[in-house]
Amino acid sequence: MTAEAEAPAKINLCLHVTGRRADGYHLLDSLVVFAGIGDTVRAEPADDWSLTVAGPMTGGVPSGDDNLVMRAARATGGPAAALTLTKRLPVASGIGGGSADAAATLRALAAMDGRAVPDAGALGADVPVCLAGRPARMRGIGERLDAVPPLPQAHLVLVNPGVALSTPAVFAALQGAAGSPLPRMRPWTNARDLADWLAGCRNDLQPAAMRLASAVGDTLAELTAQDCLLARMSGSGATCFGLYATQADAARAAGRIGARQPRWWVAAAPVLA
Ligand code: C5P
Repeated sequence: MTAEAEAPAKINLCLHVTGRRADGYHLLDSLVVFAGIGDTVRAEPADDWSLTVAGPMTGGVPSGDDNLVMRAARATGGPAAALTLTKRLPVASGIGGGSADAAATLRALAAMDGRAVPDAGALGADVPVCLAGRPARMRGIGERLDAVPPLPQAHLVLVNPGVALSTPAVFAALQGAAGSPLPRMRPWTNARDLADWLAGCRNDLQPAAMRLASAVGDTLAELTAQDCLLARMSGSGATCFGLYATQADAARAAGRIGARQPRWWVAAAPVLA
């Protein structure tokens, strides 16, 4: 049976780096949500594994066995499939990308075979939260997930200035001592209340990414100029998000940024509850 799975953009509304493991991986404390825009993975039973990459954002996507989709697929040990990855999100941009696609691949293959979705943390630090596919507090290096209070209705404008940032390079550029854990989470009454809480948090990778790519600062300035409740980088960048209370506010801001920066990737999408 042919099966399809969504790979929604993963957004770190905040991301504190709280320590470092002996193996070099960093310990994180992050509020992760998903946006109503993403890639899609389709799996069709076939005699041999294959991967076709389609869609508007195929530039820079590795093909064949280098793609995390293929690594995830082969790791299942299940029957072969012809996979089609439709890319709508920019590559290497801090919003899940490969991890979201890997998680969607595992879901699509499980649906195709009628099997349970396997555990797959070894494929990448963000794969467990992408497999869970719902808002979560993510700790450890990404393997420890906890439920969070219900999120209010909120909308995002995602902006990528066309600069690919390497996750290991951004972690390597971190400076200073380990940061504090996230403040206590509480039920948020609305998007503004969520933004107020987030203002007491950080993305500790943002200063490092800004040193590596000045376009990150430009992106945050564009969002701030469009009256967002909060502007911040997601993950290791370079995609930044602006938080808005309504769909209309987000659509207006996205339209204005897109007109001012026609070469940038700009998308408005709701936070998925
Ligand atoms: O697991 P993933 O492939 O996403 O991580 C890419 C790189 O990012 C790792 O090799 C490591 O250098 C860095 N990283 C880290 N701490 C994390 C996640 C990633 O140092 N929690």
